Amino acid sequence: MTRKLLVTSALPYANGQIHIGHLVEYIQTDIWVRYQKLRGVDCVYCCADDTHGTPIMIRARKEGITPEQLIAAMHAEHLRDFTAFEVAFDNYYSTHSDENRAFAESIYNELRDGGHIAVREVEQAYCEEDQMWLPDRFLRGKCPKCGAEDQYGDSCDACGSTYRPTDLIAPRCAVCGLPPVRRMSDHYFFKLADFAEPLRHWVRSGHVHPAIANKLEEWFSEGLRDWDISRDGPYFGFRIPGTENKYFYVWLDAPIGYMASFKNLCDRTGRDFDAYWKSDATELHHFIGKDIVYFHALFWPAMLMGAGFRTPTQLAIHGFLTVNGQKMSKSRGTFINARTFAKHLDPQTLRYYYASKLGPGPEDIDLAIDDFINRTNSELVGKLANLVSRAARMVGSKLGGLTCEPDPRAAGMLKNIRTAADEIAAHFESRNFNLAVRQICVLADEANKYLEETQPWQAIKTDPEAARAQLSAALEAARLLAVYLKPIIPDFVAKVERCLAVAPLSWASLAETPGPRQLGEFERLADRIDPAAVEAMIAETAADQAAHK
Ligand code: MSP
Ligand code: ZN
Repeated sequence: MTRKLLVTSALPYANGQIHIGHLVEYIQTDIWVRYQKLRGVDCVYCCADDTHGTPIMIRARKEGITPEQLIAAMHAEHLRDFTAFEVAFDNYYSTHSDENRAFAESIYNELRDGGHIAVREVEQAYCEEDQMWLPDRFLRGKCPKCGAEDQYGDSCDACGSTYRPTDLIAPRCAVCGLPPVRRMSDHYFFKLADFAEPLRHWVRSGHVHPAIANKLEEWFSEGLRDWDISRDGPYFGFRIPGTENKYFYVWLDAPIGYMASFKNLCDRTGRDFDAYWKSDATELHHFIGKDIVYFHALFWPAMLMGAGFRTPTQLAIHGFLTVNGQKMSKSRGTFINARTFAKHLDPQTLRYYYASKLGPGPEDIDLAIDDFINRTNSELVGKLANLVSRAARMVGSKLGGLTCEPDPRAAGMLKNIRTAADEIAAHFESRNFNLAVRQICVLADEANKYLEETQPWQAIKTDPEAARAQLSAALEAARLLAVYLKPIIPDFVAKVERCLAVAPLSWASLAETPGPRQLGEFERLADRIDPAAVEAMIAETAADQAAHK
């Protein structure tokens, strides 16, 4: 039976712009999905904006628009950025949708009917001026541990300690600056501990990376606490059925957004929703960052179990992006938005660089600027683009654009490229993209070396047919390598396909030999990065930041 995969990336908050940290995840997922599709696997990639919660509500109020208007604008911006980086979703939807409301309500009803919901009184800060409940992040005050001013309600940036919002000294509302009052209100809790045993079993059965499974083991031994899934209105979200003014906490309906996006796709394309969510015959892969493991490895599978759905096949968990070894920083100008990157640099350089760094584990990945420039220039341009451009241009300008059977002396080199297929496939499948890139570069070195040794630019003067055979061999090497590169840099490969006059490549193309043909026009594949462009991008990011302080 052929595999059927549903793949997701975490749903980005509608509240912020897409930055190069996010892109680690969306590029990683996209490469994996494109690889599956290239292999002929039936794979769909769904995502959505995560639209609910207090920050969206506040920001819309400030801008004098409705939350709906705000999230519509952000949706368009996010899609524009993803498209620029060739992240190709099969559906990019919204958690503020009818489908999501319906699933959130029915899942909640199942959990309640199963006895997994408890109601308890909770004391919380309320701002009488703004007439709203204040989540921890919307409380500011003096840190009870170190005395630093202007810290959040739950943690201190100065000393790093965490505390209860009731311990914050001289608390103020982050919106209006007035002191809040404490009020009691009923909250709804999901009894996570009801699922401790099946969850533990699920975590231990290979669905998450071993390093993460160990971390989760600590959480299990500390005991699973009830999860507060309600917020009092006003709140931008879905009202809880059977209540007047209680809403689902954003993290309750956010993962349900995976389902909603997929359901929306099913309704448009005729796919069978239940085959993916009620049956284990299909695979469900969630790509996420290490910061949201708790939600995806505990709350989410427990919700699915409680509501009678299947659990995920795999959580693919990546680490955080650092720039030059440090956290992305607004003041240093390294908190770079996707849009700013695309304005100054070619997005495929970031795809290539991330691929060359990504592995299957949750380790952080570093964008070292000098290394990024060097690798782009020496590998993407120097090895990969050059192989095609040298050979295609010479065939185009000196040999009428016609290829012939490849030089038989290149047979060994071409065979090596083909033989690597299974190993490279395994690297893609296991998310060892760094190993795939390394192997592709070794093979490209071999092809370039073949050109250096045979010197068709010499042969062309005395024996043009020999030169044609040599150049055709190099182009055949480029065609094969393009198959391997296609998940990583699809736009680059689309140009190669047009230049080589071959139909869109798939993994099966490795077994084909297209034979003599008339080449298409050569298009520039990739340009060397000028360090000045990187400096300009960082300067613009720092200046933007200063302007919005
Ligand atoms: N809205 C939630 C996810 C809900 S999923 C049901 C959220 N959004 S987010 O916009 O903050 O992050 C989206 C994804 O991007 C997360 O998986 C997160 O780990 C990832 N990243 C955000 N910043 C990142 C870096 N600096 N580096 C790598 N990944 C990062 O969390
Ligand atoms: Zn206030």
